[in-house]
Amino acid sequence: MSDIQKKNAGYAAAQYVEAGMKVGLGTGSTAAWFVKALAERNLPDLKCVPTSERTADLARELGLTLTTLEDTPRLDLTVDGADEIGPDLALIKGGGAALLREKLVWEASDRCIVIADAAKVVKQLGQFPLPIEVVAFGHKTSGARINAVLAAHGMGEATVRQADRGMVRTDGGNLIYDADKGVIADPVKLAADLKAVTGVVEHGLFLGLADLAVIGTDDGHETLKA
Ligand code: A5P
Repeated sequence: MSDIQKKNAGYAAAQYVEAGMKVGLGTGSTAAWFVKALAERNLPDLKCVPTSERTADLARELGLTLTTLEDTPRLDLTVDGADEIGPDLALIKGGGAALLREKLVWEASDRCIVIADAAKVVKQLGQFPLPIEVVAFGHKTSGARINAVLAAHGMGEATVRQADRGMVRTDGGNLIYDADKGVIADPVKLAADLKAVTGVVEHGLFLGLADLAVIGTDDGHETLKA
């Protein structure tokens, strides 16, 4: 993990934004650099949809104009970080517990750019524990079903994410289960199988959504196309 690489990726991605655009703002330390760089550009008539309360607070503090997906259902561009970037720009996201709002915003966007430091680029997804957002009601039952799905995919068990004060709650009040790390051999099937479990709200596999990756280097950036 390199902060300079994250910063370089965030600043490079801000150059893709034009005046008047409706922009999705991602969540996480890399996305925070993008938000900062975007605010510094001071482009006229931007409208931004944040993917978390954390990002909303930062964007507001920096003077960006915020809107919601309810008021602005289609966006021109979303820029967001990722936990892993695999072949074809398949992603694992949700390390910051914002995956549901992130996916809603990504899917509402004409173009999505993922930004990251070079360590996030992998040959196969799965070394980062896959986050799965689950409704709190009956979550142990849902968790057992999730684990059966994971076992069928040759993966280890998922456990509920904990913080100092107990189970982590997402902005929507849900819980996060993190799968044990392991090779994700068939991301498309795993995504479908997880979504079929009642109680699973969303998972962190972002497949076919990223159009471009901007990867920060120590002295600039590189791009990867989907
Ligand atoms: C938030 O839920 C995640 O999807 C983040 O985009 C991801 O965890 C990347 O975070 P960093 O930029 O802090 O590594």
